[in-house]
Formats: sequence, C-alpha cells, structure tokens
Amino acid sequence: MDSSHPLSEKDKELIELARAASQNAYAPYSRFEVGAALLTVDERIFTGCNVENTSLGLTVCAERTATYAAVCHGSTQFQKLVIVVNQQNPSLPCGACRQVLHEFSPELEILAIGNTGKILRAKLTELLPNAFQYKP
Ligand code: THU
Repeated sequence: MDSSHPLSEKDKELIELARAASQNAYAPYSRFEVGAALLTVDERIFTGCNVENTSLGLTVCAERTATYAAVCHGSTQFQKLVIVVNQQNPSLPCGACRQVLHEFSPELEILAIGNTGKILRAKLTELLPNAFQYKP
C-alpha cells in the first residue's frame, strides 16, 4: 500500500464522482457513508453507494453497487476503483467486495480517501492474494 503518489486529473474526477455518490448513501444504521467510482478499461465510469437495510445482513456495500451497475450496463473489465468515506481515515473494500471485484478484474487499482485527504493506494492482488477460484 502506498500513499505518496500524486493524483492524476482522472483520479480527481473519480474522487469527485465517488464523493457525490457517497452523498446518496443510505446508511441510517451505521452512519458510515461510502461512495465508489469504478473506471472501466474503456473509460466508462460507474458509481455506487452503500445501501443499508433494517435487516442488517441485507446491506450492500458501495463497491458492490458500483460493480453491479457496471455489469448491468455491459462493462465487466475495470481498471480503477475509487472509494470515498465520510470518516477521517480511508477505508479499503471489505472481503466480500474484494472477491466480487476479483471476479472481473484481479489487477484492479484501488484508491481510497477519507475526509482529511489522506489517501491509500493498493492493488487488488495485494488485498486478496490467492482469491477463491472455481474452475468447472
Ligand atoms: N461498507 C461499504 O460500503 N464498503 C466497505 O468496503 C465496507 C463497509 C458499508 C456497509 C455498511 O453500510 C457500512 O459501510 C458499515 O459497515
């Protein structure tokens, strides 16, 4: 994980889109609001936010809502994921989201940012080494 790299113009655009998506987070239970922006290899961008439910286990993370939006619109190859949280510290994807992202793009680059501007960069391969894979 690396936090030293400067932000590209594309990174800045993705951060703004993820931040806007976090404003739509439905998180009345945790108050932990997450926005995600997913950049496809052909430069499309899909966003997502976390959507909680009173039956807490039905909650879906922002990373997965963005991934599923992309897949529903015909994109399954991703180059970068940006995650914004309304907390001081950046937050990397949970284990379930890592597995879902791995399904489509094991080489994904991830950038996470909190509200003090602290940035974490990681590759999915380092966050989920030896992912589960099923070969029928
Ligand atoms: N959450 C995400 O959206 N992404 C993650 O990677 C971890 C957690 C959401 C789920 C829940 O709505 C809230 O954050 C607290 O767990």
